[in-house]
Amino acid sequence: MPVQPTREDKFSFGLWTVGWQARDPFGDATRAPLDPVEAVHKLAEVGAYGLTFHDDDLVPFGSDAHTRDGIIANFKKALDETGLIVPMVTTNLFTHPVFKDGGFTSNDRSVRRYSLRKVMRQMDLGAELGAKTLVLWGGREGAEYDVAKDIRAALDRYAEGLNLLAQYSEDRGYGLRFAIEPKPNEPRGDILLPTAGHAIAFVNDLERPELFGINPEVGHEQMSNLNFAQGIAQALWHKKLFHIDLNGQHGPKFDQDLVFGHGDLLNAFALVDLLEFGGPNGAPAYDGPRHFDYKPSRTENYDGVWESARANIRMYLLLKERAAAFRADPAVQEALAASGVAELNTPTLNAGETYQDLLADRSAFEDFNPDAAGERGYGFVKLHQLAIDHVLKAN
Ligand code: GCO
Ligand code: MN
Ligand code: MN
Repeated sequence: MPVQPTREDKFSFGLWTVGWQARDPFGDATRAPLDPVEAVHKLAEVGAYGLTFHDDDLVPFGSDAHTRDGIIANFKKALDETGLIVPMVTTNLFTHPVFKDGGFTSNDRSVRRYSLRKVMRQMDLGAELGAKTLVLWGGREGAEYDVAKDIRAALDRYAEGLNLLAQYSEDRGYGLRFAIEPKPNEPRGDILLPTAGHAIAFVNDLERPELFGINPEVGHEQMSNLNFAQGIAQALWHKKLFHIDLNGQHGPKFDQDLVFGHGDLLNAFALVDLLEFGGPNGAPAYDGPRHFDYKPSRTENYDGVWESARANIRMYLLLKERAAAFRADPAVQEALAASGVAELNTPTLNAGETYQDLLADRSAFEDFNPDAAGERGYGFVKLHQLAIDHVLKAN
């Protein structure tokens, strides 16, 4: 099947994904370190347009200034050679022991100040490389023990930190947009801003809400047993989908970070259908990077790593093709109409109609026959089966 990625598809990968050495809580690394320069070249080969990174993915924590400059120069050269861009950067506020109680929300004030400085330094580098988005995944912002963390104070400090970073970006002319990545748990027992909904509510209370959105990850919402495609639709409704982390997960358990679509395939289909065709008149509903945040399984050697990177892209493009076929099928259009899917776009009141008018409309209540309306069959199962037929290419 011709599923060749192009730059217009905007596929991007985290350096920490293909560069993951597969160290887990029970076992050592199974792969050698990956040189960022090689990652750039290989990702360009598999069809990515962008690469993202945490500060410490590129420049090992604690490197001196000379080493840092050298690594960044080599990295930039590789970007120039391949044409790959850096659409997003992020900061590691979770690996070093200093972050054991969090970064922006550590009980230790000196750690909070240090964390802000570390993020500002990464913002400088990101802006220099042309990044448009700063992702903030607060994996260590949380607690294991309810009595040990004052959650309202932690949210005050979280907001204080984010307000300062936004000010810094604006004052420096970086023009960054900030995307909070929710996750319910892991590594902390409970993480602050655990789901897309919590994060959207929080960013709307910041000083410059327009600069803040979210970076939801498939597996993170599914760890909370939530419907990812529905969560994304709500994020779009709030105009808060600033970035997206695509991967696969089998329900509520540890963060599996599988290849996109290798978990809940039907929800992945609904997601791609929404992102690619859910805008006005079937246009894309989202135009940012399609960013893969997965972990090549520990069983794989580097051949398997690049195979799995290609698998992410292939899954996305196959689902996009299947969604296009679904939308174009006359039988589907008929089933959609029978189900009243488009009817939901019609406002419940007429233009200019008031509640007085509604009260005066006898057909809405006095003469309405709920029993007759209750007899309607919506045909949703038929419609859903048609979708599955298209996913399976059974028609
Ligand atoms: C995870 C997260 C991270 C973040 C990354 C960006 O569960 O480990 O998804 O991979 O996406 O740290 O800041
Ligand atoms: Mn994850
Ligand atoms: Mn992620």
